[in-house]
Amino acid sequence: MRIVSPSILSADFADLKNQVKMVTDNGAEYVHIDVMDGHFVPNISIGPCVIESLRPYSKAVFDVHLMIENPEKYVESFAKSGADIITVHLEAVKDMDKMIEQLRSLGVKIGVSINPETDVEKLIPFADRIDMALVMTVHPGFGGQSLIEECLDKVKVLRQKFPELDIEVDGGIKPSNVKLALDAGANVIVAGSAVFCAEDPKAVIQQILQA
Ligand code: DX5
Ligand code: ZN
Repeated sequence: MRIVSPSILSADFADLKNQVKMVTDNGAEYVHIDVMDGHFVPNISIGPCVIESLRPYSKAVFDVHLMIENPEKYVESFAKSGADIITVHLEAVKDMDKMIEQLRSLGVKIGVSINPETDVEKLIPFADRIDMALVMTVHPGFGGQSLIEECLDKVKVLRQKFPELDIEVDGGIKPSNVKLALDAGANVIVAGSAVFCAEDPKAVIQQILQA
């Protein structure tokens, strides 16, 4: 099943609940929430209290992407705040077996992400125990960057080995290049600036869904 997950990093933060409503009213089943700590990535974004504030206003799946160090310290508060999927970065996790167990016990769906420079082989040993693999297609930290096409080779490898796995791509995806990601085997499509900076976000979501 193909899903669009608009990243609210590019939304108007002063109007978040309406921005979330706007994308979910227009075909997005997920809302991608980028959490940045200023350490794992050189930017700071939002934390659990913002998710908790949005939760009563939306039935969408909250797809929370943790770009933070020491995620084991924070996943519980993100689960309690209303995250449905919590994605941690392989590069930030010291003990992935423990992390997977912890996320499982919190009752959330489990995502694991890899940066552009990380070999997909490092993710493969865990892929049959997680719900979603997130392949970064830009260097994490900022919206509005250009797709690094070579990262899609990792999507192909994962799709071939794990036909049932949700595979999310994140960074630089827009209607004009989404086909590359879909053809590689991605089925969950993050789009931040392409959606929220568009004159007609609904059209962009539909174009991604129908590409
Ligand atoms: C980047 C974030 C992305 C970002 C995507 O670090 O993880 O989710 O918001 O934004 P676009 O779609 O503009 O590249
Ligand atoms: Zn993201």
